[in-house]
Amino acid sequence: MNKFTSRSPEETQGIAREWVKSLDTSSEGAQVIGLYGNLGSGKTTFTQAVAKEMGVEDIVNSPTYVIEKIYETKHPHFIRLIHIDAYRLEKGRDLQDLNFEELVNNKHNLIMIEWPENVKEILPQNTKRIELSFVDENIREIKVQ
Ligand SMILES: Nc1ncnc2c1ncn2[C@@H]1O[C@H](COP(=O)(O)OP(=O)(O)OP(=O)(O)O)[C@@H](O)[C@H]1O
Ligand SMILES: [Mg+2]
Repeated sequence: MNKFTSRSPEETQGIAREWVKSLDTSSEGAQVIGLYGNLGSGKTTFTQAVAKEMGVEDIVNSPTYVIEKIYETKHPHFIRLIHIDAYRLEKGRDLQDLNFEELVNNKHNLIMIEWPENVKEILPQNTKRIELSFVDENIREIKVQ
């Protein structure tokens, strides 16, 4: 785990920039990322920063009510960024109903999941963790695997 301290959303953007550069593109299927952290710890903000670094032009909002949003990127390998908010889900089965398996089988998908603990039984083995925590008003700790 690499540990970063962000003192502003701009610093979080810089952390996301380096993180996108470090993504492993050799996996057979999608790369799934579990974003762990309390309300307001910065899971959506980090995903928005990743989207920006990947050249997503759409506005990236929190998918709390729609559960899942799919964005086209300009990244050479991960041509789709899938943002999932499992906050309102109770089990992995709820995601399977949203074609999760098909998304996971496509190596050109980067899938970022908020509240992954709610769907833990269907996360692929190579799921990577990002742990965010609230330190102070503008300070967040970000641990990346
Ligand atoms: N250093 C920082 N890095 C990231 N976000 C920060 C930072 N400082 C302040 N913030 C603010 O903290 C808030 C984080 O909210 P965000 O919606 O990203 O959290 P979340 O973890 O997705 O919450 P939820 O569980 O409700 O979905 C944003 O309003 C953001 O502007
Ligand atoms: Mg969120």
